[in-house]
Amino acid sequence: MADHRTPVTLIGLGSMGTALAEAFVAAGYSTTVWNRSAEKAAPLVAKGAVHASAIEDAIAASPLVITCLTTYEATREALEPAVAQLAGRALITLNTGSPIGAREMSDWATGHGARFLDGAVKNVPQAVGLPDTLLYYSGDRATFDEHVETLRVLGGDTVHLGTDVDLAALYELAVGGTLLPALIGFFQGAALITQRGLEAKTMVDYTVKWLEMIQSTLPLLAEEIDSGDYTKPFATVGTFYEGTRSDAQVGAEAKIDVRWHKPMVDLLERAIAEGHRDHSISALIEVIRKPEQTA
Ligand SMILES: NC(=O)c1ccc[n+]([C@@H]2O[C@H](COP(=O)([O-])OP(=O)(O)OC[C@H]3O[C@@H](n4cnc5c(N)ncnc54)[C@H](OP(=O)(O)O)[C@@H]3O)[C@@H](O)[C@H]2O)c1
Repeated sequence: MADHRTPVTLIGLGSMGTALAEAFVAAGYSTTVWNRSAEKAAPLVAKGAVHASAIEDAIAASPLVITCLTTYEATREALEPAVAQLAGRALITLNTGSPIGAREMSDWATGHGARFLDGAVKNVPQAVGLPDTLLYYSGDRATFDEHVETLRVLGGDTVHLGTDVDLAALYELAVGGTLLPALIGFFQGAALITQRGLEAKTMVDYTVKWLEMIQSTLPLLAEEIDSGDYTKPFATVGTFYEGTRSDAQVGAEAKIDVRWHKPMVDLLERAIAEGHRDHSISALIEVIRKPEQTA
């Protein structure tokens, strides 16, 4: 039987790029790989990938080229010697970056005749290829439709956000915003527990339940934000502010550093100063939306 699978080229074999290439190889796709440090290709070649030592050959090998380098700048730098090969091919970038970076990348790629999509992998390398793994894309819809089955190899939850090419980067930023604050909160909790001689793992199940509670509030908070009505709160700005009053005492007693709370307390205080004390905690967005005033 004829093989209808589109040959794929994967540029960039760091942790994520290697996982992407492995998924294509495992799914039986003809996979060409290239990496600046060529030695990283060897394990993939052992599994069935083809290594192109020249980037020009890597691009020429497939109608679909996926890059996974650290930044858009690094991507352009790597692709520069192969611009003549880009015309007519689908190019998809899967690095983290800003919306403006995505627009510049798109202008560069389409300027060289490529059909361009930007995307984001919303998970860790170990999750690549699983049915629930989310990847989203933005840009040329026809390119997405043509390659969607191939892209699903990387994750079952494959979404096209829209034709504005910077949407994937925008959602990447927006959705990713919870990561560091949530993890720092977890680390503070772990500091409290371990300072008492207990193991961090004893709090994991409870923290997961806590995160599920937070998750359950998101649709409601989003509705408040979208409607601009903060007058039916399940928790107010004032309640959260009162909760921060014992921070210094907790920090001193447990001998942990709680200075990272200060910007959050500042935010709550500014919201209160603007009359949001009795409004829903989602009213913080009204403060966040105002750019910082420089004196
Ligand atoms: N790892 C994750 O958990 C994860 C999750 C989601 C999204 N991502 C995103 O995926 C992208 C790649 O992440 P990663 O974890 O795979 O990074 P990584 O392991 O640090 O690999 C970086 C890759 O970029 C290449 N590179 C960097 N600058 C280059 C240049 N100027 N020219 C050519 N190649 C260059 C490196 O080549 P050399 O091997 O030659 O150095 C390597 O292949 C990032 O944007 C990251 O934010 C990663």
